[in-house]
Amino acid sequence: MFNKLIDDGFIKHLGLSNFTISMLEDAQQACDVPIFAHQVEHHPYLPQANMLSYLKEQQIQMISYSPLARGNIIKDSVLQSIGEQHHTSPAQISLAWVMQKGAIPIPKASSVDHLRDNFEFTEVVLSIDEIQQIDAISYRERYVYPPVVSPKKWKSGPFS
Ligand SMILES: NC(=O)c1ccc[n+]([C@@H]2O[C@H](COP(=O)([O-])OP(=O)(O)OC[C@H]3O[C@@H](n4cnc5c(N)ncnc54)[C@H](OP(=O)(O)O)[C@@H]3O)[C@@H](O)[C@H]2O)c1
Repeated sequence: MFNKLIDDGFIKHLGLSNFTISMLEDAQQACDVPIFAHQVEHHPYLPQANMLSYLKEQQIQMISYSPLARGNIIKDSVLQSIGEQHHTSPAQISLAWVMQKGAIPIPKASSVDHLRDNFEFTEVVLSIDEIQQIDAISYRERYVYPPVVSPKKWKSGPFS
């Protein structure tokens, strides 16, 4: 079914969002084309380690939504401190951390200043030590509870 959409030029690739790993496994069985990308909430407060490693193994690109933890990440003292050392914002540090994990962040910004700030994050290269400092943040929070899957399942799900 999806290969016809590709052959007819309606889509180039197939992407999914908010699937659990077991749902992705079912989807891979059911789909007649490879899954190209999967979009999930991902930021230092929701590191998604299991999902990230599964997607890497399956060669599916992870797309990170809410990569600024809906704006909450800018108040984080670890990211503020690393940002000061790089003469940049905690938002850029969060986006650089996501990218260096192998995912692609898609921040939302409604002001020109934030847009400009977010476009510049690709110039930030975090050291292994800085990545480890961010990995060591123990606070966990999920900001989005997608309606397409059972909210109960997400709420009780792992924060890895
Ligand atoms: N697939 C899904 O189910 C799903 C679910 C949720 C979101 N998404 C996608 O993910 C995208 C982004 O996620 P999101 O809006 O939830 O959260 P987000 O990008 O983590 O955070 C957006 C918030 O951060 C602020 N912000 C942006 N850049 C900043 C900067 N440089 N410094 C300080 N604050 C900054 C924004 O403020 P201003 O607006 O004032 O600039 C806004 O309040 C959305 O566009 C949406 O398409 C997908």
